[in-house]
Amino acid sequence: MSSIAVNSGLNRTATFYQSVVGKKVVMALTGFVLSGFVLGHMFGNLQLFQGREKLNHYAEMLQSLGGLLWFVRFVLLSAAVLHVTAAFQLWRLKNEARPQAYVKKAHIATTYAARTMIWSGPIVGAFLIYHILHFTTGQALGDQFIKGDVYHNVIVGFQNPAASFFYIIANILLAIHLYHGVWSMFQSLGVNHPKYTPKLKTLAKVYGFVVGIGNVSMPLAVLVGLVK
Ligand code: HEM
Repeated sequence: MSSIAVNSGLNRTATFYQSVVGKKVVMALTGFVLSGFVLGHMFGNLQLFQGREKLNHYAEMLQSLGGLLWFVRFVLLSAAVLHVTAAFQLWRLKNEARPQAYVKKAHIATTYAARTMIWSGPIVGAFLIYHILHFTTGQALGDQFIKGDVYHNVIVGFQNPAASFFYIIANILLAIHLYHGVWSMFQSLGVNHPKYTPKLKTLAKVYGFVVGIGNVSMPLAVLVGLVK
């Protein structure tokens, strides 16, 4: 491929990104990657209910992926940065375009989930930073953190009611964010048909619900002493 063809391809991508639709497509594609990770991560973590050996073995297997694990981390981090950047730019464009007086009116036409996107996103982001310090690097667990004993770290972490409470709130918000996000993803990618639209809405709801229940069940189970 000639450098002229590459340059023209890059220019077209940049021009497309400058449009509102372009930013929404970036949000949809990166959201797809991130929501796929969230579902997989949840199923992996649910092995907490199968005991120490099972969960630690799973974590060991992930660590043994080595270079592939770093590649996945790179893809996830890039997707998260693009997702947040496009969200912020869309939010700014919407604010610039809409005079103050329309704020109330906009609330009527939209749903609770849609209105909460702009702050459920940052709270989930803050949760993520805390979460990595909690279970991956260990600073938030302090002396109690044992590298390589994921089961121990999760149990000790969730035995702290304040930490568990934060997880529960953040994961309920994440479930609402996912419900609206998955639904918007289909809209942004142009999957819009009278026959399928209600089904897609149900799919988005079920997805948010499953992830919410799965993630909230873990801190709750430890808090009530079901898993120890
Ligand atoms: C109750 C729910 C959750 C539990 C029990 C949990 C558990 C864990 C554990 C134990 C680790 C460290 C794994 C290791 O070092 O081997 C981890 C890492 C991580 N978790 Fe979660 N997680 C939960 C929810 C979430 C959610 C909702 C997200 C995203 C929104 C998330 C994103 C991540 C990320 C990005 C990492 C770092 C992965 C890496 O680079 O190694 N987690 N999680």
